[in-house]
Amino acid sequence: MGASCQTNMLLFVFLWSFFTHSGHTAYPRIRLSYSDLWQMNRTVVFQAQQGTLLQAQTMLLDEPNQRLYVGAKNRLLALRLEHINRDHKEIRWASSESQIEECLMKGREKPECANYIKVLQQYNSTHLLACGTGAFNPTCGLLAVGTKATDRLFSLAEESVENGRGRCPYDPTSLCTSTLYRGELYMGVYTDYWENDGALCRLNSQTYTRTERDDRQQLNRE
Ligand SMILES: *[C@@H]1O[C@H](CO)[C@@H](O)[C@H](O)[C@H]1NC(C)=O
Ligand SMILES: *[C@@H]1O[C@H](CO)[C@@H](O)[C@H](O)[C@H]1NC(C)=O
Repeated sequence: MGASCQTNMLLFVFLWSFFTHSGHTAYPRIRLSYSDLWQMNRTVVFQAQQGTLLQAQTMLLDEPNQRLYVGAKNRLLALRLEHINRDHKEIRWASSESQIEECLMKGREKPECANYIKVLQQYNSTHLLACGTGAFNPTCGLLAVGTKATDRLFSLAEESVENGRGRCPYDPTSLCTSTLYRGELYMGVYTDYWENDGALCRLNSQTYTRTERDDRQQLNRE
């Protein structure tokens, strides 16, 4: 992506079904290269504000409502798939001054001491769960998104903001993954500051189960 990133093209949005040539192939094609995308001429570039770097960390596609949610540095976006550059919604969610100060005191660099949104998943039919690194102080909250495309709702429920340890990594460069299955969220995440403790977790609104250190079988048992 190198050279083309120098313009303010910040995010490539894929606006087609991943199931190419349906009916002709037994398996959906789930990977397309960068050049494939351009050759198909079905790539639309989202223009973030001039001079700002989006630093997208995670995305969530809401096909029924034709929306794409993006978790980035200090902000969350809701984009319309049909008109990616037209009236998108945005939530600013930065770390507090004291969190940033504390982060700097731990010897971290300024760019790391921000809230990088790493987790974005459907929580229930009206809300998404979002978690960010919170300047090395993982934080989660719920986003009200409504149930219909016409709702145009996108806001952080302030009262839902809570400690996100075990659900989001501390470090912006840390990789983590999450997926929703039968109403439960499964995550692979480093749960501690020093990244000694990688865990698989399963959570729903009542419970949080995680693998013990050195016990990879635990999630297979009830
Ligand atoms: C690519 O798509 C745009 C908009 O749909 C169209 O204007 C343009 O002519 C297309 N370019 C090619 C090479 O097909
Ligand atoms: C989703 O969860 C939020 C927070 O607990 C709650 O306020 C909302 O009513 C729930 N929505 C539904 C449809 O249950």
